[in-house]
Amino acid sequence: MNLEKLFYIILVFFMVACSPEKKEEEKVVNVYSHRHYEADKIIFDEFTRQTGIKVNVVKAGADELIMRIKSEGKKSPADVLITVDSGRLERAKQEGLLQPINNQIIQDKINPIYRDKDNYWFGISSRARLIVYSPEQLGDIEPPLTYEDLAHERFKGKLLVRSSENIYNQSLLASLILNLGEDEAEKWAKGVVSNLAAPPKGGDRDQIKYIASGIGAVSIVNDYYVAQMLNSDNDTEREAASQVELVFPNQADRGTHVNISGVGVVKYSKNRNEAEQLIDFLVSEFSQRILVEQNYESSVNPESKTKSLILSQYPELKIDQLNVGDFGAKNRDAVMTFDKVGWK
Ligand SMILES: [Fe+2]
Repeated sequence: MNLEKLFYIILVFFMVACSPEKKEEEKVVNVYSHRHYEADKIIFDEFTRQTGIKVNVVKAGADELIMRIKSEGKKSPADVLITVDSGRLERAKQEGLLQPINNQIIQDKINPIYRDKDNYWFGISSRARLIVYSPEQLGDIEPPLTYEDLAHERFKGKLLVRSSENIYNQSLLASLILNLGEDEAEKWAKGVVSNLAAPPKGGDRDQIKYIASGIGAVSIVNDYYVAQMLNSDNDTEREAASQVELVFPNQADRGTHVNISGVGVVKYSKNRNEAEQLIDFLVSEFSQRILVEQNYESSVNPESKTKSLILSQYPELKIDQLNVGDFGAKNRDAVMTFDKVGWK
């Protein structure tokens, strides 16, 4: 064998060793997620099984993840940001941390009110913010039918709410600012504070437990928590949830306030195609079914026949048609209003 031929063989060997097939085995997508559910793991595992793309997940609070993406800048390993509220995704968009994904197939799978108008983020599940009350604690008092009712004096000393630091209540107040105007929304928040049975504390599940233990009679919680508690292995949780009635607020006018869990692709993502594939998978029939069945959230797909445990009881539920991204634009105003009226 002459030297030239040997050189050629070595060259071919290296070309094969470095071929794209080798690279494909190493495909990854790095996810920064505020979600902490078993359902997500099932979805990521199935995504890897179908595509061969490995999903690396970093879990932390949304604010922390956003800070991290910001400080990591172009070096950030993050491809995808997942949060449990449109407000945080909207903030990430405003701060220039996301990039638009113009993919008609993905867009078509999501109700337009659950995704960003400019395609910087997409809802993957929806959740309704309900009113819960104990008929026993309310006695003769007429139950609330709207969020506005909660500020009525008939509920003096009866209300329980979680802290205004929580994004769920910030987005609810943002929706009231958009629907009623700033003055009315402020009056509402003030009215709620003056009706409180105890200072704001605890999570959504805790509000239901506090009602069951008689601290208050009425509160505001996301629908999936009620379903999770009703199906819990824990007797106390099941017992507490069975004591409250649900109200889907504002059915006679604009509809119930709904928010999303959602996803966006990070601006400096090094695995943009993989990130896009993951988003497409998150809104696929498979993932939507898992989110509904395992987590009791609702599908963002207007065609989906799978209904969450709670929503299936209200097939004609009327939903507030504001785009969930608009809550982010009013987030600062909502936080300032809470501060002003002393909603801790
Ligand atoms: Fe939650």
